[in-house]
Amino acid sequence: MKDSMKKKLKLKVSAIKEGTVIDHIPAKNLFKVISILGLDTIKNQITFGTNLESSKLGGKAIIKVSDKFFKDDEINKIALIAPHAKLNIIRDYEVVEKRIVETPDTIKGIVKCFNPMCITNNETITTSFRVVEKEPMTLKCRYCEKITTEDQIRMQ
Ligand code: CTP
Ligand code: ZN
Repeated sequence: MKDSMKKKLKLKVSAIKEGTVIDHIPAKNLFKVISILGLDTIKNQITFGTNLESSKLGGKAIIKVSDKFFKDDEINKIALIAPHAKLNIIRDYEVVEKRIVETPDTIKGIVKCFNPMCITNNETITTSFRVVEKEPMTLKCRYCEKITTEDQIRMQ
């Protein structure tokens, strides 16, 4: 098969002129990523594809946000649910930079504490955790000191 044909087959979601392509998102977490990044409320053009073939993820999703360039701390928020996501910065149709997601050492908000007795579950207080382990993700609540593990993570 010709290279140009291979490229076309790969490009299931149209190329963008300027902006950010977030690739290698686990398909099941696509809408969580959209919500965490606030993409459901911005006016930029957004296209996405999901359940695309991926040998590593068993179904990946991709999001393309035109004219949007995220700050590191915005992007690192998705580390909890898309730790292997890759960002491609696009300028004039070309990929000018590739970035990976880095898990932060602290997580503020986003996640609920697994302890039902925790003050953050009973009063309107933003949660705050220390990341004690990244793989598998293990969070220690700053308020009640209880541990929330990867499979217990629920969004706040
Ligand atoms: N892309 C895009 N618009 C452009 C250029 C690239 O939407 N103008 C997308 C591509 O579709 C791809 C991602 O940005 O999903 C990265 O592009 P590229 O580096 O060319 O692809 P790959 O070589 O497949 O990169 P990787 O293997 O790192 O995913
Ligand atoms: Zn707690």
